[in-house]
Amino acid sequence: MSTIRPADARPGARRTPRPRRYLVCRPTHFDVRYAINPWMQEAAEVDTALAGRQWAELVRAYREHGHTVEVMEPAPDLPDMVFAANSALVVGGRAFGSLFHAPQRRPESREYEIWFKAAGYDLYRPESPCEGEGDLVPAGGYLLAGTGFRTTREAHAEVQEYFGLPVISLHLTDPYFYHLDTALFVLDDGAPDGGAGTGGGARPADGPRAAALAYYPGAFSPGSREVLRRLFPDAVLATRDDALAFGLNSVSDGRHVFIAPQATGLIDRLTARGYVPVPVDLSEFHKAGGGIKCCTQELRP
Ligand code: ARG
Repeated sequence: MSTIRPADARPGARRTPRPRRYLVCRPTHFDVRYAINPWMQEAAEVDTALAGRQWAELVRAYREHGHTVEVMEPAPDLPDMVFAANSALVVGGRAFGSLFHAPQRRPESREYEIWFKAAGYDLYRPESPCEGEGDLVPAGGYLLAGTGFRTTREAHAEVQEYFGLPVISLHLTDPYFYHLDTALFVLDDGAPDGGAGTGGGARPADGPRAAALAYYPGAFSPGSREVLRRLFPDAVLATRDDALAFGLNSVSDGRHVFIAPQATGLIDRLTARGYVPVPVDLSEFHKAGGGIKCCTQELRP
């Protein structure tokens, strides 16, 4: 019999980090050359050298905190390829690939497929637009899935069928928060066994409440807001300012939260809950509508 273990929301709770494996893509060709979200201004000047230093700092921070980082080389003419999160969702060592909404990004899927196959993954290619971890995240044995701007409801059905994990569809309504990972992130996925197995950590029987998360309610439709409120009553709520500062585009190892330093309010609330924020500034990438999480694909064993 399983007992439900709600995520520990107590301020003084001891947060335990779990070592992760991340895939990132070098920002060699990163640029803003088209506009497919409200953050992107075609006239924007990207400081390529600064972007390179900021990205290297993110990789350094992950490694310094005990995480493994796999680095992939980008293809020229794909300026958004640095946003590795969009390439796939990997759970239990199985990879569900991508089909981009924007034609400009479609060729990225093939490039990532080459990496995944060489790394020994059997990558599934979705039939309906799906932008990987940009819109999909495991939480307490469930998959939270965003839709509204990029990933389709049809893809939610495909991903549920592929992993056999129940999908909770969430409707995004604010164009500034066009991907789920700009409005919500998982602080702890409730994995009792270190995330092993296709359950992506906790068993569905443990309930989504085994996971801890942070989100900005205003990014979601009223119904989806209510779903989040019911499933995650102890979630850390972020303000619009935190979200606009890319504070929800964060990566957590269960203790350390790699987060935009501009998200000061959220940093304070996470600290009060016992998490340890690790600020990493990716301001050059914000010009493309991306941040820390967008640059990071988690390879879950
Ligand atoms: N310019 C990219 C796009 O609009 C940014 C992607 C950000 N990635 C993410 N996971 N939110 O598609």
